[in-house]
Formats: sequence, C-alpha cells, structure tokens
Amino acid sequence: SLAIVTLSMLFMLFLGLYLYRHDQIGAQSFFASLVLQSSTFGPFLALANLSTGLSSTLGAARRVLTLFDEEVTVRENEKGACPESSAMAVENLAFAYDDQAILESLSLSFPEGKITGIEGRSGCGKSTLLRLLMRFFDPQAGTARLGDENLKDVQTDFLRTKQSVVLQESVLFTDTLRNNLLAAKPDATDKEIRRACKKASIDTFIDSLDQGLDTMLAESGSSLSSGEKQRIGLARAFLHDGDILLLDEPTSNLDALNEGTILRALDEEAKGKTVVLISHRKGTLSFADHIIEMEELHSHAVQ
Ligand SMILES: Nc1ncnc2c1ncn2[C@@H]1O[C@H](COP(=O)(O)OP(=O)(O)OP(=O)(O)O)[C@@H](O)[C@H]1O
Ligand SMILES: [Mg+2]
Repeated sequence: SLAIVTLSMLFMLFLGLYLYRHDQIGAQSFFASLVLQSSTFGPFLALANLSTGLSSTLGAARRVLTLFDEEVTVRENEKGACPESSAMAVENLAFAYDDQAILESLSLSFPEGKITGIEGRSGCGKSTLLRLLMRFFDPQAGTARLGDENLKDVQTDFLRTKQSVVLQESVLFTDTLRNNLLAAKPDATDKEIRRACKKASIDTFIDSLDQGLDTMLAESGSSLSSGEKQRIGLARAFLHDGDILLLDEPTSNLDALNEGTILRALDEEAKGKTVVLISHRKGTLSFADHIIEMEELHSHAVQ
C-alpha cells in the first residue's frame, strides 16, 4: 500500500508539472491537486492496515467468548436463607478437583466466637477447605453449613457480607491503593481505611509513599513486596469487618515485628467472631482457642 501511495504521488507530481509547463493549469491548481490527493490517502491506508488490526481484534474476541462459554461451577443463591448464627461446620465432606480426591469424610465444626487453628502438611487441602467454606465450590458429598443452613441454601450475597477473608495470595488490581482497599467495602470513609491499615500494620508504608493512598499499583501488585501485599489483604479483611474471619496463612510473609502487631490486632478483632486460622507458624497458631491437625488425603482430622 505504501508503494501505491508513493507511485501515485509521483505520478500526480509529474502530471501536474507537465500540465503546468504547458500552461494548462496554474500554480494554485497544481498545489491544490497535490494537497487534495495526499489527503485521500488516510482512509486508504486505514483500510490497508485493517488486516493487522483485525487478527488481534479477532484474538481478543475469541478470549472474551471463551470466558462467556465457561461453565458456572457454583450458581449464586439470590433468595436463600440469611442465618443469624456465625458458627460454621462441615459434615462428612468429600471434595475432589476433577478426579483428584482432596478431602473425604471430613467433619469439623468452627464454633461462634472461637478461633479455630488449622495446621497440616502443604497440599493436604487446607486452602481447599477454606474455599468450600466460602462456597467457591460445592462439595461432591456431605455438607458445609452456616448455622443450621446448608451453604447451598444461604443467600450468596449475605455469605459474602458475613465473611471476611485473607487468601494465601492477595489479589490486587491495577488501580490505586485506595480502590484496591475499597474492594472490601465500597462505601468506606478515609478514616475507616486508615484505621484498617493501622491494624494491618501497613499505615507507615502507605504514609511513606509520595501519593499515599492514591498511589497506582502495578499489574497484580508486582510493585509491592509479598509482605506488603499480604498486609493489604489483611487491611481489606479488617475493613470488611464480617462476623466470620477466614485467614489462610495471614502471616507467612511477615517479619516477627509485623506479625506481632497483626496478631494483637487480630486478637482484638476476633472477639465474638468465628475465626478460621490456617497457619504453619507456631507463633500465629498459639492465638487459636483450639487447633485442628489436618492430615494428608482424607485422613481423620483430630479436633
Ligand atoms: N484449582 C485446583 N485444581 C486442581 N488441583 C488443585 C487446585 N487447587 C489445589 N489443587 C490441589 O489440591 C491439593 C490441596 O491444595 P490446597 O491448596 O488445598 O493445599 P494446602 O493445604 O492449602 O497447601 P499449602 O499449605 O501449601 O497452602 C494440592 O495437591 C493441590 O495441588
Ligand atoms: Mg494453602
């Protein structure tokens, strides 16, 4: 397409010169024809470039359509029960990812107002159990309960409001720190955000940033250390302030000083709440009222 553009411009130039030389057109018409002709190339070039843009557009469309075709694992319950109780339990629970069995005949209870610690070897299914308690998946057999209700019968929105969670890896968005925190409570005031950040021991870090809470985070928070990401995850949980607190290795990336500050905040925060605390650290687990030892693959958990 560039060759065509160049050739036709040269052709126009020589034709114009020829006609001008033979007094068939004036200088004005000569220049006007050149300008007018060159301004017609924009749409022509855009059309010629369509093929390059088209393939990436089709690629993007394919990715979006794949997402639409994704089967829903858990159907949200819109009009279900909203139990008062914050006690949770699992009964005869069995769960497998595809055909890889992870949990079998697991029965545990997480009493209201108590901190239940869970420890066990890496890969034994602790995070999986937490996902089942949040109903990210439904179990293949047995039940997970909130109060007396099967989680399947509990209104999903209500469950999300009731539970605060710190995942093993905090999910951060390419947005400002403030908006990342607001994901946990969209209508929170700056004062509430500051209080949550203080409890999560991330306030001094935020104050040290030039733009404070308005600092933009890089993609998936790659501009932060693992410990900072984890503390942002904790600040979110403090901000959300649900009756049930689910913590998956909340201190794994923290130094002793930060761990101490956070455990003290947790201790205060946990009063009257149901807390599930997964950890490999003895210091963190010592905050639990009782500890469950999970054993690899459907071994009987001892409470
Ligand atoms: N989405 C998934 N699809 C398939 N298998 C999975 C998935 N998530 C976890 N697993 C497998 O399930 C098993 C239990 O994983 P889980 O994350 O529950 O372990 P964990 O006890 O939390 O371990 P860790 O202490 O290392 O965090 C592991 O063998 C893991 O490979
Ligand atoms: Mg885990």
